[in-house]
Amino acid sequence: MHMTTIRVLCHLTGVKDLLLFLSTIFIFYLLYLLRHLPIPTATTAVTTITTATPFPCAATAPVSLSQILFSVAGSSPSFPRRTPYLNLWYNPNSTNAVVFLDRPNRSLPGPPVFISSDTSRFPYTFPSGRRSAIRVARVVKDTLDLELKSNFDFSDIRWFVFGDDDTVFFVDNVARILSKYDDRKWYYIGCHSESYEQNEKHSFDMAFGGGGFAISAPLARVLARVLDSCLFRYPHLYGSDARIFACLAELGVSLTHELGFHQVDVRGDIFGMLSAHPLASAASLHHLDTVDPIFPGMSKIQAVEHLFEAVRADSARILQQSVCYDHSNVFTVSVAWGYAVQVFQGNRLLPDLLQLQRTFRPWRRGGKVFSSHYMFNTKDFPSDPCEMPVIFYLNSVLSHTNGSWTTYTRHGAWNCERNTAMKELVNVKVFSGRLDFDVGQLKAPRRHCCDISSRVNETLVIGIRECGEDELIRMQT
Ligand SMILES: *[C@@H]1O[C@H](CO)[C@@H](O)[C@H](O)[C@H]1NC(C)=O
Ligand SMILES: *[C@@H]1O[C@H](CO)[C@@H](O)[C@H](O)[C@H]1NC(C)=O
Ligand SMILES: *[C@@H]1O[C@H](CO)[C@@H](O)[C@H](O)[C@H]1NC(C)=O
Ligand SMILES: *[C@@H]1O[C@H](CO)[C@@H](O)[C@H](O)[C@H]1NC(C)=O
Repeated sequence: MHMTTIRVLCHLTGVKDLLLFLSTIFIFYLLYLLRHLPIPTATTAVTTITTATPFPCAATAPVSLSQILFSVAGSSPSFPRRTPYLNLWYNPNSTNAVVFLDRPNRSLPGPPVFISSDTSRFPYTFPSGRRSAIRVARVVKDTLDLELKSNFDFSDIRWFVFGDDDTVFFVDNVARILSKYDDRKWYYIGCHSESYEQNEKHSFDMAFGGGGFAISAPLARVLARVLDSCLFRYPHLYGSDARIFACLAELGVSLTHELGFHQVDVRGDIFGMLSAHPLASAASLHHLDTVDPIFPGMSKIQAVEHLFEAVRADSARILQQSVCYDHSNVFTVSVAWGYAVQVFQGNRLLPDLLQLQRTFRPWRRGGKVFSSHYMFNTKDFPSDPCEMPVIFYLNSVLSHTNGSWTTYTRHGAWNCERNTAMKELVNVKVFSGRLDFDVGQLKAPRRHCCDISSRVNETLVIGIRECGEDELIRMQT
C-alpha cells in the first residue's frame, strides 16, 4: 500500500470511519457509473441509484406485458358467456393469451382457442367433484406444449399466468407485481381464498385458481414435464389448483403470497372488499358474474367495463385507498380510487377504515359457524343512519398525460337528522397523478395521502399525493 494512503488511513478513527471512507468512494464510483450509463433523463438518475441497480447482471429488468403469457381455462358451454370479461383485459396488440376449452364452440373474438388434451386416463376419485379439474390442471402442460405442437416461441416469455375464463386480470399490475421477483428462479405466486373455511379445506398455502397465479418460466417448464406423474398420485383432490399446488410442493416449491390476486369466494355486494383493498397492487378479480354488479344500476358486465375506464387511465392506482379529513373536522373521506368514495360523519381513525365492511355474504350458504370467517378483519356495515357512510360511485374518468380527474356521484340519501353538512354533497372530484411505481416502491409500498382542497357547493374536490416524510393520516384535532 502506498505511504500516503496508509497515513490517511491512520488518521481515521476506527472501523466506523473506515466504512464511511469506503462508502464515500463507492458512491463516487456509482455516480461515475451513472454518468456513463445511457439513462433517459437526468431526473431519474437519483431514483436509479437506490432502486434499480447499475450492475446489469445483478437483477432482472422490469417485466413487460409482452413477456407474460396468460393461459385461460374455460369450458365450452360457459365460455361464450364469459368472453366479454376476458376481452376487457385481453388486447391482441399488447397481451399474450391463449384459451383452452374442453371442446370447440363457435368462434368468438378474443385470444386463440385450443382444445385441451385428452385426460381420460387419469383417475379422479373426489366424491361429488368434477373430473374437469384434471383437464384444467393439465392446461399448464398443454400451454408449455404449444411450443412443440403449435410453433409458439416462448423464448421471450418470463412468466406464465394461469386463470379461469371468469378471472379478470389487471394485466399491467400483474406485470408490476412480477417485476418484484427474479424470474430466473422458481416462483409460484398467487393468493389463498378470502374464506377461512375454503383455505382450511384445501390449503392456506395454495394459490386459488380463479384468482389466477403466476409461475416463473423455468419452473413452468419443469412443472409441465413432471405434472402427469403428479396427476396419478392426487386423484383424491378436489380441484385443478390443488393438483398444481401438490405437484409444486413435491418439487419443493411453496407459494409466494400476493394479496392483489382475488379469488372472491364471497357472495352478494363486494363493496366492502373493493373499498378497502390492501396496499398491494390489484392483480385480479374472480367470480364477477356470481357477485352483485359492482356498480349499482348496471349489468354485471357493464359494471366491470365501467371499472376498466379507470383501469385504463391509471391501472396502478385502481382500488388504492386514501383517507383524508376536512378542515372543519366534520367528516372523514375514504377514496377507493376508480371505484367509490365514502364520506363518514366525524372522525374515523385510519385503522378502522382499513377493515372490510361486511357488505358481502359467505361463499358457502348456511353451513358451519366458521363459514363466515374471513382471512382479513371485517366489521358490520353500520345500520345507524348517522354512522353509515354516504357512498359516491365512479361516474367519469378524464385522464391526461400527468394524471386524471375521476368524478364520483352520490348514491343514496343521507338520512341522519343530527348532521346536515353532508346533505347537499352530490359529487366528489378527485385529482391524482399517474402512478408509476418502481420496483423499490412496489416492495415497500406506502399509502398515499389526500387533501380536501375545496368544497364548491355540492362538489367536494380532493387531491391525492404522496404523503410527507413525517405525515400522519389523521384528523387535525
Ligand atoms: C356453446 O355455447 C353455448 C352457449 O353459448 C352452449 O349452449 C353450447 O352447449 C356450447 N356448445 C358446446 C359444444 O359446448
Ligand atoms: C390494435 O392496433 C390496431 C392498429 O394499430 C388498432 O387499429 C386497434 O384498434 C388496436 N386494437 C386494440 C384493441 O387496441
Ligand atoms: C403536466 O405537468 C407539466 C410539468 O409539471 C406542466 O407543465 C403541464 O402543464 C402539466 N399538464 C397538465 C395537462 O396538467
Ligand atoms: C354555489 O351556489 C351559489 C348559491 O346557490 C351560487 O350563487 C354559486 O354560483 C354556486 N357556485 C358554483 C361555483 O357553482
